[in-house]
Amino acid sequence: MEVFLHITLCLLSILFTVSLAQAQLPFPFNLFGGGDTDYVEPFRAVKSNDLPTLYTGGWELHSQNSKVSSMHLILMPNRNKAVIFDATVFGPSLIRLPNGICRPVPIRRKGEKKSVDCFAHSVEYDLDTAEVRPLMVLTDTWCSSGGLSANGTLVQTGGWNDGGNAVRYLRGCANCDWQENQGALTGQRWYSTQQILPDGSFIVVGGRRMFSYEFVPAEGQKNTINYKLPLLRETTDNVENNLYPFVHLSTDGNLFILANNRSILLNPITKTVIREFPVLAGGSRNYPASGMSALLPIKLHGVNAKVIPAEVMVCGGAKYEAAKLAEKGIFLPAIQNCGRLQITLPNPEWKMETMPTPRVMGDMLNLPTGDILLINGAKKGTSGWLFAEDPSLSPVLYSPMKSAYRRFTTLTASTIPRMYHSTSAVLPDGKILVAGSNTNNVYKFKDVKYPTELRIEKFWPPYLDPLLAVHRPTILTSFTRQTLNYGQNFDVAFTLADPFVTRPNMKVTMYAPPFTTHGFSMNQRLIELAITYIKHGLTDTKTVSAITPPSSKVAPPGYYIMFVVFRGVPSKGVWIKIG
Ligand SMILES: *[C@@H]1O[C@H](CO)[C@@H](O)[C@H](O)[C@H]1NC(C)=O
Ligand SMILES: *[C@@H]1O[C@H](CO)[C@@H](O)[C@H](O)[C@H]1NC(C)=O
Repeated sequence: MEVFLHITLCLLSILFTVSLAQAQLPFPFNLFGGGDTDYVEPFRAVKSNDLPTLYTGGWELHSQNSKVSSMHLILMPNRNKAVIFDATVFGPSLIRLPNGICRPVPIRRKGEKKSVDCFAHSVEYDLDTAEVRPLMVLTDTWCSSGGLSANGTLVQTGGWNDGGNAVRYLRGCANCDWQENQGALTGQRWYSTQQILPDGSFIVVGGRRMFSYEFVPAEGQKNTINYKLPLLRETTDNVENNLYPFVHLSTDGNLFILANNRSILLNPITKTVIREFPVLAGGSRNYPASGMSALLPIKLHGVNAKVIPAEVMVCGGAKYEAAKLAEKGIFLPAIQNCGRLQITLPNPEWKMETMPTPRVMGDMLNLPTGDILLINGAKKGTSGWLFAEDPSLSPVLYSPMKSAYRRFTTLTASTIPRMYHSTSAVLPDGKILVAGSNTNNVYKFKDVKYPTELRIEKFWPPYLDPLLAVHRPTILTSFTRQTLNYGQNFDVAFTLADPFVTRPNMKVTMYAPPFTTHGFSMNQRLIELAITYIKHGLTDTKTVSAITPPSSKVAPPGYYIMFVVFRGVPSKGVWIKIG
């Protein structure tokens, strides 16, 4: 009887799987040909073949006390650690520098007394155990920027005061600490954006009253040249609203730059503005209006496509006048719309959509599946100390492949407000690390509506539905000892018990882990690789053969987290290096 029941259940589940698999055929794209197609509409709605789930996500408290508030957050490759840091100027954190070390505090005004600071403003955070190791930043990292270089070293630029023109390096090893090159940049890069380029170098764009960009010099060198960017001067309004500009590297090597409500395409080699895009109406999108922006997944269809479509999405932000009113304690509702722009088309138009709720200061993360997560922030006000109300406790899932009006899903709410100076990060296991929030100018835990937040949570997106766990592929191949080249075929072995592991049911994606601060995740990109074939082994072992990205314009050199995704359920990711 038991056996009979088991067989019946198996048959039922197979029938269910088959009917779902058939429902999405015929597959509308030429996914594997590439070559002669000039342009493939990247996000035409397709009937989803994702496994159905009713799970709207879950929350887990990972740490009671990260000791340092997470204004800036980045993962370190291959180490199962994140680096968290704040500013040096906000007074004591909850952890001292190791071995009784103190650092001299820079003198800012004449007559100021010499003093020392013995507290850490940066820690390395263990993603499993939540243990922290204090690190020592010397110069002020307040509102700075960063990114992982091709060899996995964190390169980190700017900040305030003595940190404004500094470049800092943090290598990945068990006892590595910050190394700093003060005076490396031509000016104060405070609230600027850093982006890796195809040759592995970094550009730093803007900053407060810095209407220019420059390229991070080689380690130990000092920069002498910067280049004017009139867009930044022209889009500065009475409260700026154009700091931390959104910068994305397009698939043709050009940079998309959005400041306030205007955007351009800049060629970083010739230093010319190639194109200005239409104005994105509705309000301001950058600090202190602090909207969100990400590149939608870059889909590769083969090695020879002439144009690889790239599409930018911008969501939320605040009305032009919101920060002035927030100063007076009046909190306007944040912007509720999003715009999508295909930046590889000659004359694209913004396509507008509406989020379930308004959002300012949120993060926009590329999930391993190709969906987008909107998380953190507030529904009213702007960035700035005490400038926001009504925290956005519910993350929202955005599925770019679904038909319009079905793309947004509101997920399970947290109980912890994550507003100004909060951050988040996609982890290799597919969970989301959620950290920080400090709307006060020092660490403050009492007598304020929104205390400094040192708890760290992990959010489980819908694909981590416990009922889907049996459909989760497990990657067997390790890539830690090799560097992949561009346009190369490679195999990934994985185990998965499901039958019907076919090309339309599978994705291989690679994710560039970003540097996240102030609602923008610098250098973030998700690339969906072309799959050439899938081989079935005798047991549950399978091999998917995919092609690495065609060039460093599509995927700048460095570390990525690779995922194998089966019908919307991603494996745990593995680190790969390309370049
Ligand atoms: C790693 O990258 C950093 C930043 O680009 C560079 O300064 C350093 O020399 C590199 N280290 C090695 C060992 O190549
Ligand atoms: C763009 O932003 C500027 C500065 O905030 C504002 O004055 C202008 O009206 C905006 N343009 C549009 C079309 O919304």
